[in-house]
Amino acid sequence: MSLPDRWLVLKFGGTSVSRRERWDTIGRLARERADMADARVLVVVSALSGVTNELQAICDGDSVDGDGVAARAAALAERHRAFAVELGLDPDIVLAERLPALRSLAGDARAATRALDWQAEMLAQGELLSSTLGAAYLRAQGLDFGWCDARDWLDAIALPNQNAWSTRLSVSCRHEADAGWRARFAAQPARLLLTQGFIARHGDGGTAILGRGGSDTSAAYFGALLRAQRVEIWTDVPGIFSANPRIVPEARLLARLDYAEAQEIATTGAKVLHPRAIAPCRDGNVPMAILDTARPDLPGTRIDASAATVPGVKAISRRNGIVLVSMESIGMWQQVGFLADIFERFKRHGLSVDLIGSSETNVTVSLDPSENLVTSNVLEALAADLAGVCRVKVIAPCAAITLVGRGMRSLLHRLGDIWAVFGRERVHLVSQSSNDLNLTFVIDEADAEGLLPQLHAELVRSDAMPMRDASVFGPSWHEIANGRVPRDAPWWRGKREALLRLAARGTPRYAYDLATLRARARALNAVAAIDRRHYALKANPHPAILRALEAEGIGFECVSAGELQHLFATLPALDPARVLFTPSFAPRVEYEDAFARGATVTVDSVEALQRWPELFRGRALWLRLDLGRGEGHHAKVRTGGSEAKFGLPVGRLDAFVTLARNLGVRITGLHAHLGSGVELPAHWRDVYAELAATAERIGTIGTIDIGGGLPVPYLPDAAPFDIDAWARGLAEVKALYPQFALAVEPGRWLAAECGVLLLHATQVVEKDGVRRVGCDAGMNALLRPALYDAYHDIANLSRPAGDPVRDGGLVAFDVVGPICESGDVLGRQRQLPADTAEGDVLLVADAGAYGMAMANTYNLRALPAEEVIE
Ligand code: LLP
Repeated sequence: MSLPDRWLVLKFGGTSVSRRERWDTIGRLARERADMADARVLVVVSALSGVTNELQAICDGDSVDGDGVAARAAALAERHRAFAVELGLDPDIVLAERLPALRSLAGDARAATRALDWQAEMLAQGELLSSTLGAAYLRAQGLDFGWCDARDWLDAIALPNQNAWSTRLSVSCRHEADAGWRARFAAQPARLLLTQGFIARHGDGGTAILGRGGSDTSAAYFGALLRAQRVEIWTDVPGIFSANPRIVPEARLLARLDYAEAQEIATTGAKVLHPRAIAPCRDGNVPMAILDTARPDLPGTRIDASAATVPGVKAISRRNGIVLVSMESIGMWQQVGFLADIFERFKRHGLSVDLIGSSETNVTVSLDPSENLVTSNVLEALAADLAGVCRVKVIAPCAAITLVGRGMRSLLHRLGDIWAVFGRERVHLVSQSSNDLNLTFVIDEADAEGLLPQLHAELVRSDAMPMRDASVFGPSWHEIANGRVPRDAPWWRGKREALLRLAARGTPRYAYDLATLRARARALNAVAAIDRRHYALKANPHPAILRALEAEGIGFECVSAGELQHLFATLPALDPARVLFTPSFAPRVEYEDAFARGATVTVDSVEALQRWPELFRGRALWLRLDLGRGEGHHAKVRTGGSEAKFGLPVGRLDAFVTLARNLGVRITGLHAHLGSGVELPAHWRDVYAELAATAERIGTIGTIDIGGGLPVPYLPDAAPFDIDAWARGLAEVKALYPQFALAVEPGRWLAAECGVLLLHATQVVEKDGVRRVGCDAGMNALLRPALYDAYHDIANLSRPAGDPVRDGGLVAFDVVGPICESGDVLGRQRQLPADTAEGDVLLVADAGAYGMAMANTYNLRALPAEEVIE
């Protein structure tokens, strides 16, 4: 039977070859792949987990003491014998040649000098052993597997500027496809073949090593040489992620990358794929896939030339231990040869420079520890040497934060929020690569803590980024680990006819579904740790909403005399004890009004007490603290930290307390609200703990108010806020400080999802390749997208999706309003029916909070109407 002449290359790493059931997976995958693609399969394997480290230790130091080498080698032999037994093989037969070879290498005379050729042979033993055991096992399972020595097929090539070490232990191999080579390789009789990663043939006939992580590169070389259909890298993670999932659990699996993007991501941080493995496949145009051995059904990451080039940030990485060398010229301005002088010194010290930033008088470069041996000795020597030509400052340790993606240049202006995140840190160096794929910021390592999750959230949130494009971004790490949280269909999908009837009365028109509102109120009431619940009515003061929440037992938080007036006008019988007044820079009369109504008043500055002592004398007050940081979905809604106008800084607490005592004021509540749309459920428990610790110092506090700010899942694939995790966190801290009553004051979480904005399409226009559907209202009716780049789902109610008869498919539209501002965009590149036309009813979702409340009559357009669905 003739064998197919197509090849697939499958590479399995250390953890994938260290257990018997993993070898079952390897066998099954190889056979399935071969059948499915009608191809032959070459499997490339690493050494068993930890073995290369052991071999490296033997090569590194223990060889001084000959016994150490022998003992370590014996332990390795024993480990492989035991694994043979686990595989049901007879070690004496299967390892009959390998173990004596290992023993004799350990006793080799070259061990004494740690000769490089000896080290290479020693390091090669791991892969030779694992592949020998694996092939024997797979054959014993009845699979048609052949074994070959990778050194017979991969030839190391000498490159310019290589030293003795790298020509032996960090080699590159020839990988241009070659018909003769291919024919010889194909002449091996078995349909499935197994070989080693990491090793190659040196020009002198001995062994050469590809360097750490080299097994990926071996697979890539074989893929290129064989012109394989695909190279699959099977590993212990689901693929390449948009950030390190250990730091950012919300990081998304990158489903599709082109070679250049993959190269940047691999080089700047992701450890999943060895950076050197990409070029051979790119040169040979061989597609690559990163797949998870433990979860073979996940889609993984595909890398090929045809990946859609979606512009935008695809990944964020962080490298630590970066050293910056800042050099101030002491010679003349723009002195000729300055760069040549300084770089010559870096060369002399064997240091390769990574990033460069320069001005007329200063040049700052970064040294990456993964490319350099940057010990303090080396740096001192370099600095001393540089001191002859410039003033030197070494800044370390720094972190390099890199954003990788296509078309970074064209996106710079949309990275406003990202700059805001960095704005608070000290950015030492910014570098944008001319290949337009990489934007790197170097900051102090200490400042980098916590930055990645924040940046990632910003990128996912921003309308400018493609993170919602499912063809590029797969599920998040969190979702893969826990299973996707199924989301209920929004209420409005089931009320299409009713909403179309409402729209027929005229648009723009908001509609509020009270059943959805009540469901949220009940969920909040079910959180046992909370003692007092207030609705921040700034989110939506519609009387029906206030009445419905009052009936559920919820109290209210007001920020102006206008809100107080409206609240008591709507609910004349409301007990003022259920009302908070938390104003910001309000005039004195509003405080007087609030006291007169019997609301609980919150103050947030020493100045208020100083200016208006008679207003506050003898009263009970709550105090709003600034805990020194803000949180939230956008810089404009973060209400803590020195840039924010809210709250008393903790440093002025004593002054406030003293003044309050002098006035006979009792501080009975402590309050903090750090911002709106905070994703992390643990945020509020932390705030509670901080406030409670402070409250114990003050002594008179009865209630701790941890604010509002709970997020809603605006994005189609966002998970709903984990209210159970939130409640558990609150219960835990409440148990630590049971003496305080716990108060909350959410607005958005209660009201956002019950509201939709109905609009009519006015015009559909295409300009320079961008399709736009215009609506009869935009930022005048819903300001959030223009003000915060906020995302709201948009649907065409007149043309429900999925109607196969008339379905012309979905295409991308920018949904815009009629206001004379470029920012009047409700959503960019939204998938809407291709035949969307004038007169269609469009629905903007999750608009119940900060929708109507922020609507305006700009351009003299009328305010939207409002409807309530009981
Ligand atoms: N408590 C205080 C003191 C507040 O300032 C706010 C909101 C809340 C509670 C309620 O926060 P919520 O639970 O709704 O996040 N217009 C922005 C939101 C501004 C929030 C202002 N303060 C938006 O549309 O995102």
